[in-house]
Order: sequence, then C-alpha cells, then structure tokens
Amino acid sequence: MTRQNVLEVKNLKKVFKKGNDLITAVNNVSFVIREGECFSLIGESGSGKSTIANMIAGFTRFTEGEIAFCNNKLPEKPSNKSFKLRNKMQIIFQNPLSSFSPKMTLLKSISEGILYDTDLSNDNIARKVYDVLELVGLKKEYAGKYCTELSGGECQRAAIARAIISEPKLIICDECTSALDVSVQSQIISLLMRLKKELNLSYLFISHDIALVSNISDHIAVMKDGSIIEGGPNDTVIKQPSENYTRFLINNAKF
Ligand SMILES: Nc1ncnc2c1ncn2[C@@H]1O[C@H](COP(=O)(O)OP(=O)(O)OP(=O)(O)O)[C@@H](O)[C@H]1O
Ligand SMILES: [Mg+2]
Repeated sequence: MTRQNVLEVKNLKKVFKKGNDLITAVNNVSFVIREGECFSLIGESGSGKSTIANMIAGFTRFTEGEIAFCNNKLPEKPSNKSFKLRNKMQIIFQNPLSSFSPKMTLLKSISEGILYDTDLSNDNIARKVYDVLELVGLKKEYAGKYCTELSGGECQRAAIARAIISEPKLIICDECTSALDVSVQSQIISLLMRLKKELNLSYLFISHDIALVSNISDHIAVMKDGSIIEGGPNDTVIKQPSENYTRFLINNAKF
C-alpha cells in the first residue's frame, strides 16, 4: 500500500533579524511525512526544531523554501485562505496550560476547533467534545472543568482532545512530554501511539530524547545548527548511524 504524502518540506530556511545581526535558525531543511507515520526531529537545544514546527504551523514566516500540506502549497505568511487547511494540522506544546485559556471551560476550548466550519447544534458540539474526551481517557464531566483544575497529565490529555476534534491529518508534538513526570510521560506516549493507529494520524514529533524517539518513530532526522545532518528509517539511524553527532546522542541516551 502506498501512503500519501501528508507533509512535504523542501529547502526550508529561516533567518531571524536581530538588530543588525542575522541568525540562520533553519537552513535548507527537506523531509516528507507520509500518512500514518511518526517522523521525529531530534537535536540539541537551539538546533532549529521549534522554528521548523512554527513555520509549518504558520506561526512563523519562512524565509525560503516550500511547505506542501496534503498536496497544497502553504503561503510563506499564513492567510485566511490557508486557515481551513491548517486546521487539519494541530500542534501540541510542552506546556499544556498554554493551549487553554484559564477563563474557558474545556467544553468551550476544545470545541473551538470545530466552530468555524460547521453549523452543528450545541448538543452535537457537546457530544463531539465528550467523544474526544473519552478517546483521550477523560470522563465527560471534565468538559465543565477549567485547565487550572487539572493535573499536568490530564491537561496534556485535554490538549490532545483539542487537537483531534478537527480530525487533523497531522499533529506536531513539540516536546509534548518533556514537562511531565516519567510515568505520566509514558501514558501520554501510549495514548499518542494508540490515536495514531485508530485515527490514522501522522506526527511530527520533536524531542531531545533519542531513546524515546527510537521507540515510537518510523523516521528520524537528526538536527544540528539548523540543518538535518542525518535522516532515515528508525532502525538505520539508531543501529547504523553515519554521523559522529548521532553516535554521541545514542551513546549518551538511556535506552
Ligand atoms: N523569534 C526569534 N528571534 C530570533 N532568534 C530566534 C527566534 N526564535 C528562535 N530563534 C533562534 O533560532 C535558533 C533555533 O531555535 P529553536 O527554538 O528553533 O531551537 P530548538 O531546537 O527548538 O531548541 P529547544 O530544544 O531548546 O527547544 C536559536 O538560536 C534561537 O535563539
Ligand atoms: Mg524547541
């Protein structure tokens, strides 16, 4: 079975201007993520991982290159026209609280992802919210809670519910388990992997932790100083790394 390309990134570049200085945060980065695949970006702090995520998600303008999502070229600068398409791409951050307004119930926050596009009745909206809460392992009573009333793990589950309600094709996970306790981390990873199968999701998974990434990825790309220095199928990168830097990451990881 051939899997469709969900995301194609070609020669992507980002240069930040800071006063008179130019900072090349991302340089000539290319990769493809296929349907149902987990593609991981790994690399040290400052290597450009979040900048890539932000350009794909439309939070940061890109300087050069191309991004195609579901075979549609995305504009360098997000526009209303690309909004509907971008709604099929969701992002989950390190700090789940940042996904929610403390003044809104989960029902309100989670339903935001389906309000633009449908004329669903309030009852049907609530039902959809209960459905996604159940999918992430939260009881429907959580719909009436505020994010500040949740534990870190529960809040990240709610952020995942918020991400999946618009039936996305791609979820970008930017260090989405780094702020959680180890035991909670593995529960969230199991949840993400279950949803990947059940909903045929693709992930762009960003992490510092090569051991974690080796457990869940189909493809791994290693970043250093804004560039991908090595990339390929999980087994190849982990078992036959070609770069010293990748070997260094593997030798220092806790598998
Ligand atoms: N808005 C900005 N203005 C100027 N420089 C920036 C901006 N955002 C990021 N950078 C710089 O771009 C580089 C890449 O940053 P980025 O946040 O993408 O790294 P990262 O790989 O996600 O790091 P971490 O693992 O710590 O999250 C860094 O040198 C950073 O200082
Ligand atoms: Mg980052």
